[in-house]
Amino acid sequence: MTISGKARLAGVMGWPVGHSLSPRLHNYWLDLHGIDGVFVPLPVAPEHFAQALRILPRLGFRGVNVTVPHKEAALAAVDRLDPLARRIGAVNTIVMSEDGTLSGSNTDAYGFSAHLAASVPGFSAASGAAVIIGAGGAARAVAVALTDMGAPEIRIINRTLARAEELALALGGSAHVVDWSGRARTLEGASIVVNTTTQGMAGQPALDLDLSRLPASAVVYDIVYNPLETALLAAARGRGHRVVDGLGMLLHQAVAGFEAWFGVRPEVTAQLRAHVLAGLGQR
Ligand code: ATR
Repeated sequence: MTISGKARLAGVMGWPVGHSLSPRLHNYWLDLHGIDGVFVPLPVAPEHFAQALRILPRLGFRGVNVTVPHKEAALAAVDRLDPLARRIGAVNTIVMSEDGTLSGSNTDAYGFSAHLAASVPGFSAASGAAVIIGAGGAARAVAVALTDMGAPEIRIINRTLARAEELALALGGSAHVVDWSGRARTLEGASIVVNTTTQGMAGQPALDLDLSRLPASAVVYDIVYNPLETALLAAARGRGHRVVDGLGMLLHQAVAGFEAWFGVRPEVTAQLRAHVLAGLGQR
């Protein structure tokens, strides 16, 4: 890697940020394209977030990714907001101009859809209801993505009913809430079911979901990527469903930011995936 005095600067702001795979991902692309630039982790506590963000363009930064817990705060902190980020209610990518102006966008919905299209060619969201488990920030991006892909109905299921109701209200249209106890039944007629909860992550119990009523043609997508194959995906694979893991969403969401900061549109390849996966093993 070459880092000269003119190197382009970008990074990821989170708290904590030590587990982020984004530095490994972006620096792989920088190396691959021989770009004089660097992408650094930026651990920033919530109380310092807005101030830290304003300082970065003054230090020459071209932009940042924003991760947990700052995505909602970033929405309020930027000067210009992309309409999609407004709909999702969160910002994950910020581009900084030389005069210090901050432009916020959200590439999580794109990451979700692009990875789905790459993993299941020919998938049509229009062919049935989309079932989303969870109602946090990730669920919002997934719900917007599936709405825009033409899902005729969005069924939202969350352990805490009030959060599901809030999300359905924000989405409007064909989104509605199904009670947690009805989650197995609501898989009937679905074209896709997506886990956006933390269940199934390393150190967490598996998502408690009986797949027996899910149509054989349905796709099962888990946005968890550590481990890559969750118990949910293993069960779905065992039943013959097409399955999609969470790592590709992370890789694809990074493309637009890299292009804006470093001037090259990078590709998501098997080599990149293997490189990032190796980083997962080292955490
Ligand atoms: P993110 O922004 O990454 O989506 P989040 O806002 O913390 O993260 O959301 C985590 C999701 O996992 C929520 O839907 C949460 O359900 P609650 O709204 O009821 O908290 C879900 N979740 C976490 N632990 C869970 C558990 N033990 N069983 C079921 N759902 C769980």
